[in-house]
Amino acid sequence: MFVFAQLSDIHLGQDKGDGGVRARERAERVLRYLDALPGELDAVLLTGDIADHGAPEEYETAVKLLAGSRHAPLLCPGNHDARGPYRAAFLGGDPADTSPVNEFHVLPGATFAMCDSSIPARGDGYLDDGTLAWLDRSLAGAPKDRPAFVCFHHPPVPLHGQYVDPIRQFGEDRLAEVVGRHPHVAALLCGHSHTPAVTTFASLPLVAAPGVVSTLRMPWEGAGEGPLDYALPPMLAFHVHDDEGRLTTHFRVVP
Ligand SMILES: [Fe+2]
Ligand SMILES: [Fe+2]
Repeated sequence: MFVFAQLSDIHLGQDKGDGGVRARERAERVLRYLDALPGELDAVLLTGDIADHGAPEEYETAVKLLAGSRHAPLLCPGNHDARGPYRAAFLGGDPADTSPVNEFHVLPGATFAMCDSSIPARGDGYLDDGTLAWLDRSLAGAPKDRPAFVCFHHPPVPLHGQYVDPIRQFGEDRLAEVVGRHPHVAALLCGHSHTPAVTTFASLPLVAAPGVVSTLRMPWEGAGEGPLDYALPPMLAFHVHDDEGRLTTHFRVVP
């Protein structure tokens, strides 16, 4: 059994008239909650929108926050991230390099392809041809005795939220073709939706983790004061991949 947590969309630096204090407090609250768990987790994921404006100082805050946590999350960028500063802060890379930031992690019980679905300076998402070729090669070379999870920021299907659907991941037929070639892919995991959602993609589970910084109101919940609810507490997902090959996801509100 492989048990891991997924958080998403911490948007460090998001200024609601408080200089970003609120976003930082919520991210800290979630990390403290994970740190205080009596049990062990096999991995923690953070699926993008780590910074709110892609600013180097936002990544400095992120690096400090994550370094103070018991878990070092596996990361991918989102549309609010900027590849150069992200790469410099987390990978010690060249801040002038704006190519996609893709990372493949082989852990004892699972493999994780952390794919960059961002498009510089745009809200919507796309896995470019180089990223898909990298994903195909990585999955082909991965150990087949453990599940592979394909992770990115933008959901590749509509989730029926009026705010996020127009800026979802497009060109998804190409992704379906790649994951269809690798039977050890167990699920696809994303963020961006700011609402927990479970659906399917390419006949596989697709789980969108809730957003730590805010929650998207769905059309049937009314418009409220805007599409995002900032009052609901942060949430995260716990995923369990069991010996029968089944993925079960539990969502948890962080008090
Ligand atoms: Fe976000
Ligand atoms: Fe996003």
